[in-house]
Amino acid sequence: MNSPAVPAMRARQRFIDLHGSEPLVAVAPGRVNLVGEHTDYNDGYVLPMGIDLHVAVAFAPRRDGQLRARSVTVEETRQVDLVELSAPGGSEWFDYVAAVAWALADAGEPVGGIDMVIAGNIPIGSGLSSSAALEVSVARALCEVSSVQWDPPKMARLCQRAENQYVGVNCGIMDQYAAAASRAGCALLLDCRDLTVTPVEIPSRASFVVMDTGVRRTLAGSAYNRRRASCEAAVARLRERDPAIRALRDVTPDGLAAAEPLMHPETYSRAKHVVEEMVRPQQLAEALQAGDLETAGRVMNESHASLRDLYEVSSAELEEITELARNTAGCYGARMTGAGFGGCAVALVETDMASSFVGRMQRRYSAPGGESGYCHICVPSDGAKLV
Ligand code: GLA
Repeated sequence: MNSPAVPAMRARQRFIDLHGSEPLVAVAPGRVNLVGEHTDYNDGYVLPMGIDLHVAVAFAPRRDGQLRARSVTVEETRQVDLVELSAPGGSEWFDYVAAVAWALADAGEPVGGIDMVIAGNIPIGSGLSSSAALEVSVARALCEVSSVQWDPPKMARLCQRAENQYVGVNCGIMDQYAAAASRAGCALLLDCRDLTVTPVEIPSRASFVVMDTGVRRTLAGSAYNRRRASCEAAVARLRERDPAIRALRDVTPDGLAAAEPLMHPETYSRAKHVVEEMVRPQQLAEALQAGDLETAGRVMNESHASLRDLYEVSSAELEEITELARNTAGCYGARMTGAGFGGCAVALVETDMASSFVGRMQRRYSAPGGESGYCHICVPSDGAKLV
C-alpha cells in the first residue's frame, strides 16, 4: 500500500515512542514531471503531478524556541536554536529542515519551536523530489505550530528560496509547487512566470509509471547550475538585440534561430531545447484532455530526445530504460523526468496493461548494481496536508 498513511503511521509511532504524546502529522508528496523539463527557471511551463510517495512529519510545538528533528531514515536527531539560523547553511538532510524555518523567519513570519519526527518513502536522489517534499511537509508543520495561514503558492516560493539561498541549489519553482499544491487525479499545467495553474485530469485509461535507473544524481547540483548559467548566457546575448527579452520564455524558435551566429554552439543547443520544450506541457495537456494517448506519448518521446541531444542531461541508464519501456507492450512513450543525470524515467502506459508492464520492466532492466529496477504505478495525489 502506498498512501500518505504509511510514512504518516511510521512518523507518528516513532514520535509517540520518543516523546510519549500524540503528535499532529503533516505530509507532502513527491512529484513526477510529465513534460516541461528545465523550463521552470526560464519562466516557462511545466506539467508535474503529485504522486503517492510521501514525506511525513509528526510534530508538536515546543516553548523554548528550539527546532528539533529526528530522521527515521538516517536515525539521527538534530537540533538548533531558531534565533541562530542564518543563510547559507549546508546541504545535509537537516539543512533542508532548518532552511525552511530560516526562510519563514526571513520573510517576517512568526516561527515557533517544534519537535519533529520525519519519515518518508520517496527514493532519495531519484528525481522524484524527495527534498521538495521534505521542505514542504516541514513548512506545513511549522505553519501549524506558528499559526501561519497555509497558502500553497506562497509557501512553495518560500521553500524554493530556502533551497536556493540556504542549501545553495539554484532550483526552479516546479518541485515545491507540486509538493504544496498538487491535486488528486490531476497533473498541474503551471506557468512558472506568474504561477497561474490549470489542473489537467488524468484519463482513467492512462497510467504514469516511474522507473528508477538505480543511479543517484551525485553531480546533479553543479551540472544543474551550469545548465542554468547557459540559459542566462543565451538570454544576455538575445537581450543585446531586444532588451524586452527577460527570459527564454520570451523567445520564439525563429527569434532564437536568427541569433544562432551570436552564440557559442553549446549555449545555442541549451537554449533551443528550452524554447522548443516550452510548448510541450500545453501539447501534452491537450492530448490527455482529448484522451489521445498516442500524441501524448509522442510528445514525451520528443522531450526525451531533446533532453538527450540538446540539453545533454540523459545518461546511458536513462537511454536503456526508456528504450526498453518504449518496446514493452502497453507503452505510448517514455522520457527521463526531473533534472536528469540518472534518477527516474516516466512512461505513459495503458492502465489495463500497467501491472504487466511493470513486471516486464523489472525482469528486463537491471540497475548497475545488479538489482532489478524499481517501478511504481503513480496515483496522482494531493499536495501537502495534515492527516
Ligand atoms: C529539478 C529542479 C526543478 C526543475 C527540474 C528540471 O527537479 O528542482 O526546479 O528545474 O530539475 O526540470
